[in-house]
Amino acid sequence: MKTKFAIAAALLAASFSVQAADIAAGKAKAEAQCAACHAVEGNWNKTMDPSYPKLAGQHADYIANTLKQYQKGGRNNAIMAGMAAGLSQQDIKDLSAFFASLEGDLYLKK
Ligand code: HEC
Repeated sequence: MKTKFAIAAALLAASFSVQAADIAAGKAKAEAQCAACHAVEGNWNKTMDPSYPKLAGQHADYIANTLKQYQKGGRNNAIMAGMAAGLSQQDIKDLSAFFASLEGDLYLKK
């Protein structure tokens, strides 16, 4: 009985570790694939063009849902559909966690 619990616990731990968002991995992916447009000189609050959205400090859920919409339709943009197409679910989690971890200059005006 104890062994069964140990195995169940180990499996649970393993499945969590696979699914957890990895900020460092997200950073590496973002620098390789997203920085050209969403960061100038490594600054994620400065985009290549003022019309390109800032991602720093955005909620992880918002980024993840938006990337899935670019993949499946729901939000249509030729550039981002192409960028999102190759992302795995893990990539999306990692990238979202990375952007959410950054300090952004987006704020609510009161
Ligand atoms: C070639 C330039 C380019 C690259 C590279 C690029 N993006 Fe984008 N991104 C854009 C543009 C332009 C938009 C605005 C599209 C729209 O209006 O829907 C955008 C929008 C987004 C949005 C929506 C932001 C919001 O506030 O709603 C997210 C999230 C995003 N990009 C994530 C990424 C990620 C993650 C990568 C790397 C895998 C990436 N982008 C690579 C140009 C780019």
